[in-house]
Amino acid sequence: MRDPRPHTTPAQLEPIETASRDELQALQLARLQWSLKHAYDNVPHYRKVFDKAGVQPSDCRSLADLAKFPFTGKKDLRDNYPFGMFAVPREQVARLHASSGTTGKPTVVAYTPKDIDTWATVMARSIRAAGGRPGDMVHVSYGYGLFTGGLGAHYGAEKLGCTVVPISGGMTERQVQIIVDFKPDIIMVTPSYMLAIAEEMELQGVDPKSTSLRIGIFGAEPWTPAMREAIESKTALDAIDIYGLSEIIGPGVAQECIETKDGLTVWEDHFYPEIVDPITGAALPDGEKGELVFTSLTKEALPMIRYRTRDLTRLMPPTARSMRRIEKITGRSDDMLIIRGVNLFPTQVEELILKQPELEPYYTLEVTRPGHLDELTVHVEMGSALASASQDARHAAAARLEHGIKAYIGVSCSVQLALPMGLERSVGKAKRILDRRPR
Ligand code: DLL
Repeated sequence: MRDPRPHTTPAQLEPIETASRDELQALQLARLQWSLKHAYDNVPHYRKVFDKAGVQPSDCRSLADLAKFPFTGKKDLRDNYPFGMFAVPREQVARLHASSGTTGKPTVVAYTPKDIDTWATVMARSIRAAGGRPGDMVHVSYGYGLFTGGLGAHYGAEKLGCTVVPISGGMTERQVQIIVDFKPDIIMVTPSYMLAIAEEMELQGVDPKSTSLRIGIFGAEPWTPAMREAIESKTALDAIDIYGLSEIIGPGVAQECIETKDGLTVWEDHFYPEIVDPITGAALPDGEKGELVFTSLTKEALPMIRYRTRDLTRLMPPTARSMRRIEKITGRSDDMLIIRGVNLFPTQVEELILKQPELEPYYTLEVTRPGHLDELTVHVEMGSALASASQDARHAAAARLEHGIKAYIGVSCSVQLALPMGLERSVGKAKRILDRRPR
């Protein structure tokens, strides 16, 4: 059942969520100056790269001056593995998380007790923006452990005054049993795993529309507006987007508000966003699409100065809160495939798959190079009706998708239909690309 309650009133928000832009910018500048100095004074890496670029923290007199400072990238964290980027002695670190990464060493991130409290605050704010209220029961299916999803959601939900069910990811049958028995109001999970949970409900004879769940807070991977529609029509949830990354704090960097569903409000009082040209690194004005860059404004253990996220989006003016929004992130530069010169993101294929009701939103993109040229095969599951239809009907469905991908994206591909349940289900972040090209 959709949430019938009225949306938040300003009295229920933190004052900064409705502050004027001037107030917000004054706070940002003071915090930015602190953060630059904190990084420079306490992290040898920052001291080295600031000196090399000829900038000092005191050169930052306006928010625009931030553009004078050098970027930080994943490589800097790897080069200083495991603890070299910390700005406080390791003994003052209350918690470590790490992201696995597909190549090389993991990225290690650290939190002081105050950082944990900041994180819980922005996560509580995020859950409230998604429509959550004190007293709600929150089923957390993001993984607990070194991944920031589970514990980030957990502390935020507790801080808001919710009852938390820390089930973590996996054991999908049990997820359904717990949802049916405990009757949570909110589920926090990757959108791809939500689909797998809804599918398991159907297998157990539970109508996904009939459960107690009213709100789904979905993130950690790209998902399209078409996927939102698919989840909302299958489950009767409001499907709300949450964004974050370990390096900046974890989930809760930006959050979509349930009343507008118009992109994600960046919690700009803690994380200062910029958009830069992904190739030249030049700062771009609000409204232009490019790579999202964040500077932490309050973090103690791991200050991040101009961290390049690789996520592609644009900054948009505030609506439901006084902070600016980012457009839904539908891809990161690392996930972009270049097939015979044409750029392609998995989410573009997702949109086309969801336009064909006879197909299911379970898919992977396999890239091979049998000769000199890359070849793309899209593996996608058939719905049960198509699986029992004629060979001709299946050929026609595959041909329709191949044609759509050629027409809308510009890439020739082969579509391979898998049987229902034929593709692996993700329990966390979905792996969309199988790159089998020789290295
Ligand atoms: O995925 C943190 C998180 C947990 C966010 C739970 C939301 C919910 P990392 O493992 O460091 O952290 O991965 C961060 O995931 O740079 C994006 O590429 C992607 N990502 C996260 N949220 C979204 C989203 C967590 N809502 C990386 N839409 C980021 C699109 C997302 N991509």
